[in-house]
Amino acid sequence: MLTRRQIRILVHTHGREIIEHDNMAIERRCYQHGAVTTFAHSIRVACMAVWLADRLRLWRRVDARSLVRAALLHDYFLYDWHDWDGGAHRLHGFTHGRAALDNAMRDFGDLNPVERDSIARHMFPLTPVPPRYLEGYLVTVADKVSATRETLSPDRFRRPPRHRGGAR
Ligand SMILES: [Fe+2]
Ligand SMILES: [Fe+2]
Repeated sequence: MLTRRQIRILVHTHGREIIEHDNMAIERRCYQHGAVTTFAHSIRVACMAVWLADRLRLWRRVDARSLVRAALLHDYFLYDWHDWDGGAHRLHGFTHGRAALDNAMRDFGDLNPVERDSIARHMFPLTPVPPRYLEGYLVTVADKVSATRETLSPDRFRRPPRHRGGAR
């Protein structure tokens, strides 16, 4: 069984290209749930997806690299969905899987079918089409667990101000 440290190393090894990409700076600025940025959420989902695959003994049927990359990119939509934008993000829950995939294809063009499908369909069952691969189900479950924990965490009330006002 993998330890927490081994899981983090695995995520950083398979996900290095994604984690080090310049656009991750956008994810570090955008809050996803409560006090958690999209970047931190994506790392958590990747770690939890790996943990699930490990504890369920799925390594003979799951590709670790595709799992980690899909988890890291599942919310790669690159905007803060709390910002009012005239309504374009109103359907965020339904549309951001596709937006994440489009951005991911632009920035990491060589995504394989498992990665592509798992990113595009991670909002199942909110969106009607289920993932095609086991990796996609692991990302979907890890995302739901992480999102619920992050939303219910009391840390959300200690969120730092995004724009510090002028000195008074
Ligand atoms: Fe999402
Ligand atoms: Fe997510």
